[in-house]
Amino acid sequence: MILAQTAVRNVGLVIFAIVIIGFVVYLFFNLLDSKGEGGAEIELAANRKPYFDDDILETRKLDQSLMSGLVLLAVIGIALPLYWLGEPGRHEGYVENTLELWTEDGAEAFEEACASCHGGGGAGGIAAFAITEAGTGNFVASVDWVAPSLTSLLTRFSEEEVIHTLNFGRNGVMPAWGAPGGGALTAQQLEIIITYLRSVQKDEDAVQAAVFDGLVEGARLEWVSRDPELSAELAAAQRTLAQAQQTGVPGVIEEAQAGLSEVQKKLGEVFTTDDMAAWVNEISDPSHEEYLTYGKLLFTNRADAGGYSCARCHTAGWSYDGANDIDLNGDPLTLDADGNPGYVQGGGWFGPNLTNGSTHSQFPRSEQMIDFIRIGSEDGIRYGTAGQGSGQMPGFAIRQDDSLNANAQVEHVREFNVDVAGEDVVQWPAILTEEQIAAIVAYERSL
Ligand code: HEC
Ligand code: HEC
Repeated sequence: MILAQTAVRNVGLVIFAIVIIGFVVYLFFNLLDSKGEGGAEIELAANRKPYFDDDILETRKLDQSLMSGLVLLAVIGIALPLYWLGEPGRHEGYVENTLELWTEDGAEAFEEACASCHGGGGAGGIAAFAITEAGTGNFVASVDWVAPSLTSLLTRFSEEEVIHTLNFGRNGVMPAWGAPGGGALTAQQLEIIITYLRSVQKDEDAVQAAVFDGLVEGARLEWVSRDPELSAELAAAQRTLAQAQQTGVPGVIEEAQAGLSEVQKKLGEVFTTDDMAAWVNEISDPSHEEYLTYGKLLFTNRADAGGYSCARCHTAGWSYDGANDIDLNGDPLTLDADGNPGYVQGGGWFGPNLTNGSTHSQFPRSEQMIDFIRIGSEDGIRYGTAGQGSGQMPGFAIRQDDSLNANAQVEHVREFNVDVAGEDVVQWPAILTEEQIAAIVAYERSL
């Protein structure tokens, strides 16, 4: 297409050059002609100048005029269809160029505004955050809050839902970026960032691999938690790090981090990755007695800064390691139902409480709940028995993205969809397999 485009452009340039040169030549001879008129008044007047006789006028002169007319007609006849033929290519080239430009600009804007928390390329990272006491606003502790990876964001949310989060931020940790939430970025800047995010979405294999890595890591922690000695050792190292972080002294923090790494290395040797992977596969069988543990590992998956987990929205404190972090009095920030350091998994936070049978009354049958988790919620749309969707519950199954096609605001991106992908819809890969969603649902319904 680019080749055809340049060919058409060259033809256009040649025609333009011919027209200009022709005009200059005509002007030149015309001027020359008028200069030649010297002599008496009777010879001077142009209309009195003897012209060709009828013989020449009716033959040579007439032929010349007709021929130049024909040539001009031919030029127009060839140039116009050529131009017309190049039109779709030019349009596609424009859309492609714009897509490229937006992706580049978006990458720059992302690195500037988002990467400090979400990591380079949206791989996931952490946001430094100060926990304050509700009511008084007194400082409690500074913590590292997971900022989820955005490389499967477009599976979880439609682009309109993403724009909502960008406009208003989330939970005071994720800043508001759009004008409606008092942020600094324009609607178009947000669209440009989303165009970039399209280019960093993982494919199906990469998402599955990342989810599995998280399960293996979770399995290791599960085995550690079943060994009192090892879990005490790990908890002590985590506590030392949390304490060090409250001091803010880099040397102290580094030392604590090194201590924790040492313990983690040891745990990796005791519970090897191969063993853990085999165990995860084993318990993923619905008839295995530890099937619900498999559901829990999925629910609490820490891979890619919690991007695939449920706990980051449904479990208080989980996003900032609350059970390990401590307040200024040295107490853990999060206590479980029995008052021990730990989380109430699914106890509710940004997303509703999923424990004590609440999911059973919302979704009398498991299949209804599975469907809900596959596609998530939509703003203003009811779900379950009495649920009111806000669009903030992500979907975890494959998602067809046609939301921007319906959104006149983002005309350019709509064109990318239609013209570049060659179809009306774009598909984003599933984060969780059908089996994994079923396992999470079984786990949740047991809470
Ligand atoms: C100060 C750190 C910080 C910056 C800067 C930041 N974010 Fe976030 N972002 C977060 C945190 C933390 C969360 C998770 C919030 C929560 O747990 O509710 C989040 C959540 C999100 C979400 C929701 C994702 C999901 O799956 O729930 C999106 C989308 C997002 N950020 C996009 C962006 C973009 C785009 C930018 C740049 C314009 C950006 N963020 C800049 C910290 C940040
Ligand atoms: C980004 C935050 C977020 C994540 C991650 C998330 N949820 Fe939710 N979830 C919500 C919100 C918010 C709602 C409430 C519905 C709404 O506002 O649209 C909700 C609602 C639900 C409900 C309905 C509960 C009720 O009683 O109405 C279930 C069940 C649920 N989520 C399960 C899950 C599962 C399973 C996962 C992980 C696979 C998950 N959620 C991940 C935010 C989240």
